[in-house]
Amino acid sequence: MPGIYKAVKVTDKVWWVGVIDRSLKEFHGYRTPRGTTYNAYLVMADRITLIDTVKKPHFSEMMERISSVVDPSKIDYIISNHAEMDHSGCLIEAMEAIKPEKVFASTVGASVLRDELHGIGEITPVKDGETLSLGNMNATFIESRMLHWPDSMMTYLDSEKLLFSQDAFGMHLGTYKKFDDEIPWDMLEWEAKTYYANIILPYSDFVLKFFDKLGGLNLDIKTIAPDHGPIWRSRIPQILELYKKMAAQKFCERAIVVYDTMWHSTEMMAKAICEGLDSQGIETMLYPLESSHRTFIATELIEAGALIVGSSTLNRNMLPRVADILTYLKGLSPRNLIGASFGSYGWSGEAADQIAKMLGEMKVNLVTDPLKVKHVPKSEDLKKCYELGALLGEKLREGCKLPQQ
Ligand code: FEO
Repeated sequence: MPGIYKAVKVTDKVWWVGVIDRSLKEFHGYRTPRGTTYNAYLVMADRITLIDTVKKPHFSEMMERISSVVDPSKIDYIISNHAEMDHSGCLIEAMEAIKPEKVFASTVGASVLRDELHGIGEITPVKDGETLSLGNMNATFIESRMLHWPDSMMTYLDSEKLLFSQDAFGMHLGTYKKFDDEIPWDMLEWEAKTYYANIILPYSDFVLKFFDKLGGLNLDIKTIAPDHGPIWRSRIPQILELYKKMAAQKFCERAIVVYDTMWHSTEMMAKAICEGLDSQGIETMLYPLESSHRTFIATELIEAGALIVGSSTLNRNMLPRVADILTYLKGLSPRNLIGASFGSYGWSGEAADQIAKMLGEMKVNLVTDPLKVKHVPKSEDLKKCYELGALLGEKLREGCKLPQQ
């Protein structure tokens, strides 16, 4: 009896045979309310080829989708573009079921797969720029190191003008809609930004270098097929432009104020800082950590030029949620930011200094010393907070050459 899981045609010779994982709500600390997809692709060339696999628990679903097009034992090759386990977790099972003639990965990928999937069979390493004949078409391997891991590579299929881009240009969006033109741009843009901010951001220099490399290759690309989310066929210039913009991180018209508070004093300071930023015409996002998740703060931060962080002092430390967001953001290595720290305290007041230290380690350019207030802010304290916001706003305006108010 035929199964319920079917392949979806991408081009004349390429089928989507992946998985929609709607139940995934978090990916390594990154919230994914819309779930995700693990995209695998079947190339029906003379030499039938499977591009990437899926997360281990979804192996049988992938095989069923493959079987809706071809008997899996007819597959000649598997190409593993990326060794992270959401794309390689069932590779051993796939190799056992399919018995392909060869499995290809980048040189680093072959080594990572051996480290991750103990007992895996032979993997044939391929070099950057190497071309594999699939009979009636060619697959060219393009190393894309650090997009997202050191092993990452892309595969370009000449006859289909299709780039299999693994994590790059992907998003966590678990929908049956397979193509970019079936989904509103606003949703694509938000999910692509969220994915970039939470996954790719630390490797922005590699993204910029990859664009130089891609430009030099002068490929005719009509379709980009990533390993997560929809396939790009109508908005390729838009997603490439968005990536270039996010990688450059030269946004500065916005500010992000993040805080946690015990008895609302640090909250009062945060609001006064926002007023000061407002006075300079700076769009400001305020994130109380009690009700804000790190995923979305990171997403907003990639379009900001200032990061201002506050915490009450609790037992000679910043509050735990502030330590969480700073640890997370530090790992993402955002760039080109100015900032400041602030907080109220009762008797020792270490939090604002600790925040300033971490912001410094993140290479945030601090415009002033930590701003501290003892217990509840008086009106002169709130004025200082307002002035800090206004100073940050002026510096952003100066840096961005925004029009005078
Ligand atoms: Fe979707 Fe880096 O794995």
